[in-house]
Amino acid sequence: MALIRNSLLFICFVVQLNATSILSNYENAKIELEEYIENKKKEVNPRFRPLYHVAPPVGWMNDPNGFSFHNGEFHLFYQFYPYDSVWGPMHWGHVSSPDLVHWKQLPTALLPEKEQCFSGSAISQENGLTLMYTGRVAIDVEPYFNETQYLAFSDDGINFYKYDGNPVLSRAPNGSPDFRDPKIWMYEDYYYVVIGSQTTDKRGRVLLYKSSDMKSWNFLSVLGESNGDMGYMWECPDFFELDGKFVLLMSPQGLEPQGDRYKNTHQTGYIIGNFNYDTNEFEQEVAFQEIDFGHDFYAATTTEVNGKRYLIGWFSMWDEPHPEDVDGWAGMATLVRELRIVGSRITMQPVEEIVTLRNQIVLDSDIEPNQILVFGKAVELIINSDINQKVDLLLEGRKGGSKAWLRWDPETRKVTIDRGSGDIRQVEWYPNGSIHWQIFLDTSSLELFCGEGEVVFSSRVYALGGWKLTNESNQTVHIKANSLKRSTPE
Ligand SMILES: *[C@@H]1O[C@H](CO)[C@@H](O)[C@H](O)[C@H]1NC(C)=O
Ligand SMILES: *[C@@H]1O[C@H](CO)[C@@H](O)[C@H](O)[C@H]1NC(C)=O
Ligand SMILES: *[C@@H]1O[C@H](CO)[C@@H](O)[C@H](O)[C@H]1NC(C)=O
Ligand SMILES: *[C@@H]1O[C@H](CO)[C@@H](O)[C@H](O)[C@H]1NC(C)=O
Repeated sequence: MALIRNSLLFICFVVQLNATSILSNYENAKIELEEYIENKKKEVNPRFRPLYHVAPPVGWMNDPNGFSFHNGEFHLFYQFYPYDSVWGPMHWGHVSSPDLVHWKQLPTALLPEKEQCFSGSAISQENGLTLMYTGRVAIDVEPYFNETQYLAFSDDGINFYKYDGNPVLSRAPNGSPDFRDPKIWMYEDYYYVVIGSQTTDKRGRVLLYKSSDMKSWNFLSVLGESNGDMGYMWECPDFFELDGKFVLLMSPQGLEPQGDRYKNTHQTGYIIGNFNYDTNEFEQEVAFQEIDFGHDFYAATTTEVNGKRYLIGWFSMWDEPHPEDVDGWAGMATLVRELRIVGSRITMQPVEEIVTLRNQIVLDSDIEPNQILVFGKAVELIINSDINQKVDLLLEGRKGGSKAWLRWDPETRKVTIDRGSGDIRQVEWYPNGSIHWQIFLDTSSLELFCGEGEVVFSSRVYALGGWKLTNESNQTVHIKANSLKRSTPE
């Protein structure tokens, strides 16, 4: 008996020691990772690196995560694999900003251990910033993964430690293995979270839970669910009040293309409706609509500060080439946009503070027949023209790279971004009065905001050596161009 007790004590002692060394291993791994990043950065080829969009310092990024405001600063995390410019075991990269325009790189916030750190959100509290994310663990039986929800805490908003009682939410009501991307918020005295999941017959759905402490959660309701033609999985849900309505934003996978719609590998869009915190029912008013019509936009997420709702998305797409990957990095984030509901749709406008990037006006005139204009790598174009005639502008790299045509056709009332070889995205647009386009060009990206942001396109276009614009329209097009300053780290 005594012998057994002694060996038990011994075992406990060894377990204790291991626990201590695992913790310090984690802290050591963080330090080593930052050293690795600092060194590896020097090998990155800058030719396609954005000057005012968030991108990983090295390696791969996908979904934006944990978009939040804490202690006077915005925080943005992102799905990050530092060791290669392809997807790999997921970390959380981290940047912060005073104004949603100027970004500072911070140490990697979460490193994978037993679990990969999949997408999630953040909630600011008096005593710190808390992250809620999906821990994805490999298992031996189909589907070979187990997704449960984890917490991590931080006192200073920079150093995060994982809760030792993880996971805090380990099973969807129907046992679906697809159970990820928690978006947490607070309402009155309770925490709420929406999580992306799937019905047993493989239709996408969003689950709503409630908690008083973030550690123990009660399932409330299915907030929304595909009726069969809205995809097999709804990723990255977000749920918020906007202009008197409620919005369910999510990224459905598996939508079939329908004409001009749903042409990307996966889509991102929203449903507008009404919600009641007493019944937990979301009553849909306007069916699913895409939120961005470009080639490269996914996994958008929002945060709210002082009554303004801000959105940021992943500015890349699954299962598409990422030409920058040979340069030592891949994937970036879009500009932050402010959301409004106008009529039955959401409008997106670039965050107001974007004007602080304006360096100088480099052009403000009508462009001549066949005139070619050249710009630097970071430029804002404001285009005005007659709505009753076609617009056709070619944008390409001064020293090569890829191309895109921006078109307006008054007969079809469609705005088009054509990357050549039939790689077209287009959508109907009903502007009042005249054509007004605001275009943000960075080293490898194009964002087109039409009118008041009723229609927005985000597409990657890889311009080598700055931008060149050719007027291929038959009408007078007025262009104002501002060169833009750098606002993201080298
Ligand atoms: C997934 O993990 C949870 C929490 O650790 C555990 O309760 C559950 O049994 C696991 N599921 C599978 C299928 O391994
Ligand atoms: C349409 O015109 C009205 C009145 O000039 C203006 O208030 C509104 O913002 C415009 N809407 C769009 C979508 O441009
Ligand atoms: C411009 O006019 C020419 C000649 O009328 C026509 O062939 C061409 O398609 C027009 N281009 C656009 C963009 O409207
Ligand atoms: C653009 O070029 C066409 C001819 O290619 C010309 O007719 C048109 O006037 C030009 N636009 C401007 C603004 O000069």
